[in-house]
Amino acid sequence: MSTVLFEPFRIKVVEPIRISSKEERFEWMKQAGFNVFNLTAEQVMIDLLTDSGTSAMSHDQWAALQSGDESYAGSKSFLELEEVAKDIFQKDIIIPVHQGRAAEHLLFSVLVSEGDMIPSNGHFDTTGANIEDNGGEPINLPLEAASKISVSHPFKGNMDIEKLRVFLTDNGSKVPFVMLTISNNTGGGQPVSLENIEAVHAVCQEFSKELVIDACRFAENAHFIKKREKGYEELSTKEIAQKVLSLASIITFSGKKDALVNIGGLLCLNNEELAEKLKNRLIVTEGFATYGGLAGRDLAAMAQGLREVLDERYLDYRLRTIEWSVERLYERKVPVMIPAGGHAFYLDSKSFFPHIPPEHFPGIALVAELYMRAGVRAVELGNVAFGKRDSLGNNIFPPLDLVRFAFPRRVYTQAHIEYVADSITELYEERESVQGYAFEHEAPVMRHFRSTFRPLGSM
Ligand SMILES: Cc1ncc(COP(=O)(O)O)c(C=O)c1O
Repeated sequence: MSTVLFEPFRIKVVEPIRISSKEERFEWMKQAGFNVFNLTAEQVMIDLLTDSGTSAMSHDQWAALQSGDESYAGSKSFLELEEVAKDIFQKDIIIPVHQGRAAEHLLFSVLVSEGDMIPSNGHFDTTGANIEDNGGEPINLPLEAASKISVSHPFKGNMDIEKLRVFLTDNGSKVPFVMLTISNNTGGGQPVSLENIEAVHAVCQEFSKELVIDACRFAENAHFIKKREKGYEELSTKEIAQKVLSLASIITFSGKKDALVNIGGLLCLNNEELAEKLKNRLIVTEGFATYGGLAGRDLAAMAQGLREVLDERYLDYRLRTIEWSVERLYERKVPVMIPAGGHAFYLDSKSFFPHIPPEHFPGIALVAELYMRAGVRAVELGNVAFGKRDSLGNNIFPPLDLVRFAFPRRVYTQAHIEYVADSITELYEERESVQGYAFEHEAPVMRHFRSTFRPLGSM
């Protein structure tokens, strides 16, 4: 029998893609200030901007929407979600919120004070921003290998345990809790091993610190453990996920990833005293504790999504899709981060366009050119997104200048992905004809979202 790992679903509802021409896309990009965030969705043929909130829901999730209970308090849909979430996240108290950053905002407004420092394997940008918003400082302690795109490591998302130990020895009194992000989005969607999570947990115990897990992609991370870590081959992915999540005192969760929904999030914990404080604040910002800013139907869809996401055949297909793209690009010598992550692949813009200096933003050139040539939308996560200016206005660039191609769940087929890989390869073959970009308008924060650009040289 063929070993081809086909998509484990049939397509029942389709959304047509508007096929555009190069000329149209060039005009649209000019109007968008050469920033793909300013394009309309219809102007994009294959949209790999994010995997967040872009999942295709199953027919069971659509059915759950129809039976959502919209009661203000004690909704049946909340009770269903609570039951599923308690089982997976291994916590007694489940607080719904409208998305992941609302969980972060709520939790940090209670736990983080001025001058605190929060170590992590890699804070996501909203996590870091919410820590800073409460006067704290996000600290990233990734492995050395995480900053080298061509160094392969099965768990490149791990935290550096030695660095954590030294950090807590030096700054322990300023640390209210330690965080782990699984998988590590900022570090390339790379997984964190169970051995590493256990080691972080042990260090937390030694220094009497709580462990908070950002579990957005808990299912993908658990499946990597099953596939890559010795000793876990025989456990089900669900059992691995439960083992991982039971090590956390508190969990923040964006349902827009591994709950396969378009909106929703959770905060999960066992500490009743803390939960009381959180629920009181929740009423002010999100809503009553049994709906947390969501409609009953959203809670129902999230419950069903959580039931589906740990299907190992789905996870095999999910991880293989990214791996297949990375293999394809790697064999064609395109500078892609290895090994494959769980929700996205990342290109190294610096090596893609070695002739474009960092201050002419090779990542923006890559994203803009690929869109204009092929109608594919990706996102720059490098010199523009994470770059800063010093007090004299000089650029401070991050260690890695990446472009991310994130895969919405259950949305695109292999042919779409093949088209993306071929388009990237063609652009790479013609790389010398591409020139850099400069700011037309530079946004003060999170520059990749709101800045506009102008191409340098002739177009
Ligand atoms: C690791 C991680 N944490 C938190 C968030 C925030 O979640 P949300 O977009 O639902 O607010 C994201 C979103 O992409 C993420 O990737």
